[in-house]
Amino acid sequence: MTLATTRLGRTGLTVSRLALGTMTFGLQTEEPVAHQILDKAAEGGINFLDTADVYPLGGGLETAGATEEILGRWLRAAPGRRAGFIVATKAFGRMGPHPWDQGSSRKHLLDAIDASLKRLQTDYVDLYQLHGDDASTPLDETLEALNTIVRSGRARYVGVSNFLAYRLARALGRAELRGLTTFVSVQPRYSLLFREIERELLPLAQEEGLGVIPYNPLAGGLLTGKHRRGAPTEGTRFTLGNAAERYQERYWADRYFDTVDQLQALAQEAGVSLTTLSVAWVLANPAVTAPLLGASRPEQLTDTLAAADYALDAGLKQRLDDLTHVYRWGDSVR
Ligand SMILES: NC(=O)c1ccc[n+]([C@@H]2O[C@H](COP(=O)([O-])OP(=O)(O)OC[C@H]3O[C@@H](n4cnc5c(N)ncnc54)[C@H](OP(=O)(O)O)[C@@H]3O)[C@@H](O)[C@H]2O)c1
Repeated sequence: MTLATTRLGRTGLTVSRLALGTMTFGLQTEEPVAHQILDKAAEGGINFLDTADVYPLGGGLETAGATEEILGRWLRAAPGRRAGFIVATKAFGRMGPHPWDQGSSRKHLLDAIDASLKRLQTDYVDLYQLHGDDASTPLDETLEALNTIVRSGRARYVGVSNFLAYRLARALGRAELRGLTTFVSVQPRYSLLFREIERELLPLAQEEGLGVIPYNPLAGGLLTGKHRRGAPTEGTRFTLGNAAERYQERYWADRYFDTVDQLQALAQEAGVSLTTLSVAWVLANPAVTAPLLGASRPEQLTDTLAAADYALDAGLKQRLDDLTHVYRWGDSVR
C-alpha cells in the first residue's frame, strides 16, 4: 500500500503522513504482537516510527528500555530494514536511580543517546527528541549537548515534545544566536478532545517551519467510541499499570463522553468510523506533518490507516471544529 508523504517541517527529510508510535510494546503488548503491529504499519506504507527510552507506557524503571529493544530487534530482523525507516526516539524521563539519570543535562543526554542506540541496535537515530521540558537545566547546556549529538552523527535531527510555545520560541532563538543545531519538530498532544495547541504552538510551528507529529490522536482510545461511562474496561489504556490514573484524569470525564456521543452521531451520518474520522481530522490540520498512531493489536490499525485515504469534506470538518470548539480555547472564547 502506498501512503502519501510530506516533508518534516522545513527540513529536506521526507516522511509518511502517518507515523507509528510504539509505547504499548513491552507491557500491554508482547513482542510477537508488537512485531505484527510494525509489520502491518509497514505494509500500510508507514516509514516513520516513534519510540522513547522510558517506554513501555505504564511501567517503571524495571521495564524502561524494553520498547526500544523490541523495536531494535524488529529493525534488525530483515536485511536493510533499518535503512527503510525514519526512527525517532526521546530522552528526558527517569532511566536510573541517580539524580542525574533524567532531564536534559549534558550528562544525561550524552548517556541517554548511547543507551538508546544500543537498545535500538543502530548507529544513529533520525530524530532525537526531548520528551519534556527540563526547566531546571539551562537551555544553552541542553542545546550544546544536542549539538554534540548531531555533530557526532548519533542523531540526524532534533525535536521537542510537550514544550510550551514560549519555551520553544526561546530555545529556537538561543540556538540561532549561538549557531547551534536547532529543533525541527514538535510532538504535542492533539485531538478533537484537546485542541489547546491551536492557540500558540501550531502558529509557532507554522511560522518557524517545524514538523508537527501529534500524539494521542484518539485520546488514548476514547475517540474510538468503544468506552462506556463507569469503570474503565480492563486490558485497555485506562487500566494500564501506572498510566491508568493519568489517562483517566485526562479523558475519563462526563463532558468527554458527551462529546464522543455527539461525534459518534456525526460519524454515523457520514458513514465512517469515529476512529477514522478522528485521525482524519488531525491529519487535515495544515500544520500537521503526521499523526502518531497507537495500537495494542494489529487489527486496530485498519481504521486508523484508513484515515489517510478518507477525504474529509470541508462541511463535516467545520461541524467537527464547531462541536469541539470548547477544547480549543475554553468556554469563553469562540
Ligand atoms: N511525547 C509524549 O509525551 C507522548 C505521549 C503519548 C504518546 N506518544 C506517542 O504517540 C503514540 C500514539 O499515542 P497513543 O497511543 O496515545 O494514541 P491514541 O490514538 O490516542 O491511542 C491509541 C490507543 O487507542 C486504542 N485504539 C487504537 N485504535 C483502535 C481501534 N481501531 N479500535 C479500538 N481501539 C483502538 C488502543 O488502546 P487500547 O487497546 O488500550 O484500548 C491504542 O493503543 C505513542 O505510541 C507514542 O509513540 C507520545
